[in-house]
Amino acid sequence: MNARIFPVAAEPLVEWPAEGVARVPFQVFSDQAVYQQEQEKIFRGPVWNYLCLEVEIANSGDVRTSWVGDTPIIVTRDEQGKIHAMVNRCAHKGALVSLKDRDNVPSLTCVYHAWNYKLDGTLNSAAFRNGIRGKGGMPDDFDTSKHRLQPLRVATFSGIVFGTFSEETPPLEEFLGEPIMKFLARNMDHPLQILGTHSQIIHNNWKLYAENVRDSYHATLLHTFYTTFKVNRLDMDGGIVLSDKKWHHISYAKRATLEVADEYKTEQIHSASYNSALAGPELLDAWDGFDDNITHSIQTVFPNFVSQLTLNSLAVRFFVPRGVDKTELYWIFLGYKTDTPEQTKMRVMQGNLTGAAGLVALEDGCINSFVQRGTRSSPDVASFIEMGGKVAESNESSRATEASVRGFWHGYREIMGFK
Ligand code: FES
Ligand SMILES: [Fe+2]
Repeated sequence: MNARIFPVAAEPLVEWPAEGVARVPFQVFSDQAVYQQEQEKIFRGPVWNYLCLEVEIANSGDVRTSWVGDTPIIVTRDEQGKIHAMVNRCAHKGALVSLKDRDNVPSLTCVYHAWNYKLDGTLNSAAFRNGIRGKGGMPDDFDTSKHRLQPLRVATFSGIVFGTFSEETPPLEEFLGEPIMKFLARNMDHPLQILGTHSQIIHNNWKLYAENVRDSYHATLLHTFYTTFKVNRLDMDGGIVLSDKKWHHISYAKRATLEVADEYKTEQIHSASYNSALAGPELLDAWDGFDDNITHSIQTVFPNFVSQLTLNSLAVRFFVPRGVDKTELYWIFLGYKTDTPEQTKMRVMQGNLTGAAGLVALEDGCINSFVQRGTRSSPDVASFIEMGGKVAESNESSRATEASVRGFWHGYREIMGFK
C-alpha cells in the first residue's frame, strides 16, 4: 500500500464519553484530523464499500467511476465479463484516467501522456517508451508489469458491486450477515433497471447522514408528509433489525396496521392532525409486491450505503465525503425489468417521495446542516442518544428507538479505535 503523508497518531484523537455509544462527541463532525484518519481506517480499511450496481456495467468494456471516501475509483467489466475495480489514478503521474461517470471503451487511456491500460487495470503500453528514432524513451529496466492502476478486491451481492482496499476485510457475506443479506435480496435480487439518478451536495459531515438514515425516531416527526398522509408513522407496526456486529440496519413499517397513537394528537407533533388530502391521491396508490405486509423499508450497510423501498419507490443512495463539512449524496432510482409499464410509471411518480426534493426527504438536505452549524463550535460537548435505551439491539416491536444510530457508532468506534 501507499505511504501516507499524514502520520497516524499514536494516541486516539478523540476521548469518547464514558456512556459509550449513547453519546457522540461533536468533535468527530468537524475535526480535520479525524476526517483524515477516517479515510485511512474506515474507507481504505476493513469494510466493503459500495461501488456501483452491476446493471451500470452490464456489458464488456463498460466503465463506471465511483468513490471510496476521497479516493476516485474506476469499475470495469472486461472481455470475459469479470468485474474489476481500481484507483482512478494514473501510474505515471497520478492523473485521473477515466473522466466520465459512465463509458464503454476497449481499454483505458490517460489523456496526459497516453499510458494505456487493459480493462483489468494492468498497463498495456507507455507512449514513446522506446523514444523517437532511438533517442529518449524509458530506461532499459522499464517494465510494464510493474506499473498498473492500484486494484481493489471486488465482491457482488444482489446486483450490488462492493470493493475493499484491505486484506483484513472478511468475505462480503460475513461482513453483511444473514438478516441484512436476506432483506437486501428481498428488494434488490431482481433484474434491475435504472429509472433515474441525481446527486446533491449536503453541507454536513458524512456521519451526520449515516446517523440520519438510521434515525427512525425523526422520520415521522421531521417529515410531515409521512405523518399527514400516513405513509410511515411510529404508530404503525414495524421494527428495527441490526446486523450481528450492529454496524448495518433495517428499519421497516407496515402501513395497513396504523392505529393512531395519542402522541400524534398533540399540538407538538405538527401536521399529524391536519385535515388534509392530496389533490392527486393516486401518488400513494401502491401495489403490494411482497407477502410480508412491509410497505416502507430503509436499510444501511456500513459505512455509506442505503437501500430503500418507500411504497413502490425503490432506490439506492450512497454518500461520499467531500470534506469535513460537505457530503455528496447520490440517488439511483430503480425498477425491475419485469415491471409492467403501469408499474414503471408508478415507481417514477413515487420517486417524487424521496431524492433531493422528495416529499419525505427534502428536509434531510438541511437538517444535518443545522446539526453541523449547531455543533461546530462545541467539540467538547456530546449528543444524547438514549431513545429506546442505551445499547444497540434489534427491536421488532417499536421504532421509537435510536438503536440503529448507536449501532453505527459501534462500528465507527471499533474501526477508529475510539474507546
Ligand atoms: S499522468 Fe497518465 S500518462 Fe502521464
Ligand atoms: Fe429523514
